[in-house]
Amino acid sequence: MSLKAVVLGCGTYLPERVLTNDDLAKRVDTSDKWIRERTGIRERHIAAEGEFTSDLAVAASRNALEMAGFSPSDIDLVVVATTTPDLTFPATAAIVQAKLGIENGAAFDIQAVCSGFIYALSTVEKFLTSGQHKRALLIGAETFSRILDWEDRATCVLFGDGAGAFVMEAQKEAQAQGRGVIASYLRSDGRLVDLLYVDGGVSTTKTAGHVRMQGNRVFREAVVRISEAMETVARQAGVSANDIDWFVPHQANERIIQGVVKKLDLRPDQVISTIAGQGNTSAASIPLAYCAGVNDGRIKPGDLVMLEAMGGGLTWGAALLRA
Ligand code: ACO
Repeated sequence: MSLKAVVLGCGTYLPERVLTNDDLAKRVDTSDKWIRERTGIRERHIAAEGEFTSDLAVAASRNALEMAGFSPSDIDLVVVATTTPDLTFPATAAIVQAKLGIENGAAFDIQAVCSGFIYALSTVEKFLTSGQHKRALLIGAETFSRILDWEDRATCVLFGDGAGAFVMEAQKEAQAQGRGVIASYLRSDGRLVDLLYVDGGVSTTKTAGHVRMQGNRVFREAVVRISEAMETVARQAGVSANDIDWFVPHQANERIIQGVVKKLDLRPDQVISTIAGQGNTSAASIPLAYCAGVNDGRIKPGDLVMLEAMGGGLTWGAALLRA
């Protein structure tokens, strides 16, 4: 009896405070024009003082549970993809589990920076289809604003805070009726650490550190590697670009997204893009964009959706699912 991991609900949360490009231009030598033209970003959300990654994750999870029609006690696996945990330990997933009042199952974090949600989706799919767990909360949540160097115009204009969550269930194939995760593909190349990293850590500086990036090199790597991951996952699933209904990319830069769309011969109207109003929310960006597509009626049950991401490590990957 084979099982499928089906997405039954999604939810999002964005902090109330909005930081516009014009606001940033008052702090560093930049402009709304430069940021919009180079990245597609207009504004981003910033978590309030005392508002933690777990708070964002819990708010997104409640919305996802509501859409799925489940209560927290139905969940037996909580996985949080994050690079900005509340604490060095325990895992933010354990804090989320407690805040939601979940008493069953397991909880852990996954750290693959901006690729975290793809890594977590691939992991959760295996936990569910093996029969080890029945229902999972899969969350991407970040307070990236806390690790930005607000004096560095090359990075501080790019990122924002937010969270997105999926409720996923293990279903027998007959019940799933073709829905669920079809294939995923994960990669990393640690030799490229210097392209994008944080200059601090528990074991080195005993601080959280700040984001450092060689933006133009990351940009060049991104289009090539993301396209290759998407082609691989499509090949594994036996589908062509024509079969894909929606493309939900990690929202790093509108130009990277357009580059991938062009390379793979996708149509611009297949892309779900939230970058203008959110910036790069790292591991949260894919569920934030996916849920935007579900909520406005573009992504419908049965649609074929391609997800992809690339982030620090470098890590990258893609996943194909039927909504
Ligand atoms: N405002 C104004 N000027 C700026 C700013 C800014 N915010 N940031 C950099 N510049 C300047 C640079 O100093 C440089 O000036 P110079 O020519 O006098 O030296 C000039 O703009 C060009 O800099 P580049 O870095 O070459 O600009 P580029 O066109 O590559 O755009 C950007 C920079 C937007 C960071 C781009 O490289 C990018 O998006 N890279 C991808 C990185 C990314 O998205 N990382 C997120 C995590 S990884 C991921 O999610 C894929």
